[in-house]
Amino acid sequence: MSHAIEIKSLSKTYQPNGKSPPKQALKSVDLTIPRGMIYGLLGPNGAGKSTLINILAGLVLKTDGHVKIWGTDLDENPRQCRANIGIVPQELNFDPFFSPQKLLDIQAGLYGVPRAERRSAELLKLVGLEDKGHNFTRALSGGMRRRLMIAKAMVHNPPILVLDEPTAGVDIELRRQLWDNVRELNRQGMTVLLTTHYLEEAEELCERIAIINGGEIVADEEKETLLARVDRKELTVTLSNEISEIPKTLDRFTPRKDGQRTLTLTYAPKETKAGEIISLIQAQNWEIQDISSNQSALEDVFLQLTKSTAHAVI
Ligand SMILES: Nc1ncnc2c1ncn2[C@@H]1O[C@H](COP(=O)(O)OP(=O)(O)OP(=O)(O)O)[C@@H](O)[C@H]1O
Ligand SMILES: [Mg+2]
Repeated sequence: MSHAIEIKSLSKTYQPNGKSPPKQALKSVDLTIPRGMIYGLLGPNGAGKSTLINILAGLVLKTDGHVKIWGTDLDENPRQCRANIGIVPQELNFDPFFSPQKLLDIQAGLYGVPRAERRSAELLKLVGLEDKGHNFTRALSGGMRRRLMIAKAMVHNPPILVLDEPTAGVDIELRRQLWDNVRELNRQGMTVLLTTHYLEEAEELCERIAIINGGEIVADEEKETLLARVDRKELTVTLSNEISEIPKTLDRFTPRKDGQRTLTLTYAPKETKAGEIISLIQAQNWEIQDISSNQSALEDVFLQLTKSTAHAVI
């Protein structure tokens, strides 16, 4: 069975425009997205994420390379490719005077979905907008608009959904709701590709993550493998008792006392499991009240891999 998306040696150079010189936004990118996965494309501003997505959407013409979407070659059959994929662009764009229901009906019409097969109400329900179907779209909040865009990308029932920065400018609660929506769609069989520069989002949702920087893929791994690249982590433990003396058994974790009852320890996840440290502490008959690991592991990997870029957004 073919993959959901296959990208080979994909390059894009934007032509010079006025005073701006040509810009190579993608440099021979290879990427394979298996069916059924939630796949994250992570990278700082200007890395080339939207360029890649927009090529898949048929909105930007590639300079070189090959793209297959659900087994169909983009050059050979762009129309079928469009039918195979639903894209939620980074920029929100729709007519504010239509109601969400109307907007979805029109979009379905554009894709040639017969009236009897339109699922506007069902899609609105899926993104939690069932009670907004007949409001003016302009009266929706930013987060609701984004959810409406997801519904809009799905009117033709594509097997792949691509989300370009789905939660930019969305508050934490709505972001979690959107994540739930995406997970639910995936559970129902949808392959999802999303771009983000929220590391937490990629870590939370994606099974596999590619990191793009300066138009090049610098990592493409299962999330766990990527996270395992982290060579140093901190564990902070708060005890019920005051710490009189730090036991020698913890020396190799360069213990640091923060206040009377809190201890921060540094360890290499490849060599030590956090559980070992906890056992050593408990062997002192100390009672652990709270534990935190203050660093996002993915944040470390991301910064390591993209450090040449000054504008990494984290
Ligand atoms: N239409 C265009 N004409 C010329 N250059 C462009 C065009 N669109 C994007 N670029 C350039 O291509 C590079 C990649 O841009 P792209 O929008 O793909 O990045 P991105 O990873 O989506 O960034 P962001 O996180 O800010 O959305 C940038 O240097 C950008 O300035
Ligand atoms: Mg972008």
